[in-house]
Amino acid sequence: MKRPIAQLVGTGRYTPEKIFDNAYFETILDTSDEWIRERSGIRERRIAEEHETLAYMGAAACRQVLDEAGLTPLDVDGIVLGTASPDRLLPSTACDLQAELGAHNAAAFDVAAACSGFLYSLSVAEGMIASGTAENVLVVGGDRLSKIADYTDRTTAVLFGDGAGATLVQPAGNGKRGILSTYLKTDGRLAELLYRPGGGANHPPDEQMLQDRTYFIRMAGREVFKNAVRSMADACDRALEKAGVHGDEVDVLIPHQANIRIIEATAKHAHVPMDKVYVNVDRYGNTSAASIPIALDECVREGRIKEGSLVLFVAFGGGFTWASVLVRW
Ligand code: COA
Repeated sequence: MKRPIAQLVGTGRYTPEKIFDNAYFETILDTSDEWIRERSGIRERRIAEEHETLAYMGAAACRQVLDEAGLTPLDVDGIVLGTASPDRLLPSTACDLQAELGAHNAAAFDVAAACSGFLYSLSVAEGMIASGTAENVLVVGGDRLSKIADYTDRTTAVLFGDGAGATLVQPAGNGKRGILSTYLKTDGRLAELLYRPGGGANHPPDEQMLQDRTYFIRMAGREVFKNAVRSMADACDRALEKAGVHGDEVDVLIPHQANIRIIEATAKHAHVPMDKVYVNVDRYGNTSAASIPIALDECVREGRIKEGSLVLFVAFGGGFTWASVLVRW
């Protein structure tokens, strides 16, 4: 097993107070609480108010990490933000987050890997540490999907929520703690199974875009589901194999929270029993890049992850992108 280069130090999260429960969607769409719970496992999701921008939520999560690590924003030399719903297209939301946080010494940029964004960002941060580019890198996963979800489309609107989570990545030192293995994979041929057709430079905003609602997320749910199950299972195998670890040694599995049925299928394949799998999709819905760091923060605060715990993260999202990271906490 390789000696870790980088370790995760501390966690933080920000989730808006406002809740849309399934009953709310019954009032605006032809759907039911029963359908949503049975098909996805979701009961409610958090929805950002106007002032709760992605930069605001991300900065709040980062503040919590820094306060607990005894660092100030000026100690930070890198901010990597995984997101699919930036506050604006230019500059990156990491720049706005940096300004909001007052982390003026940090290089800051976004990573666009949809729901896999946090794990891709973690890998970028590990690379920055390995190359000596940075020593205190905030890795943030955040999304505000309520702004790009089509609230006239029952096949997508009910699934998504808002929030942000963060961790600090530092050099691992000589101990066993840190990132043990990482696996990243992409298949761009399947991009149009989960995407936003309009709004970018290919289709700048115009009247037609508003009429056709191409600004919003479009998803072929059943196809995404099948690919997610297959790819997340494969990603678990790869991260475990690389580190020479068997699934039954994993203390906590934190999968991307999109659908309880995808989570259960992934856990079964990885031979991790459900009592070692963290699930909060019922309370937050799919928060995309935020889902893993929010779950991680909850696990740490609930004492489910302790020093020495072996933690496996696995994600799947638009692109398609998928990823897994194995960490000794
Ligand atoms: N309420 C009621 N009925 C709904 C509905 C809703 N909110 N959304 C879809 N339906 C209907 C469909 O129209 C379809 O009706 P039909 O059979 O008459 O055509 C039926 O329910 C079944 O739809 P289907 O899409 O096959 O359901 P499903 O079992 O695949 O569940 C998802 C739908 C979206 C929950 C599921 O496919 C999923 O979770 N996909 C992956 C989502 C995901 O992970 N996305 C992000 C990747 S990170």
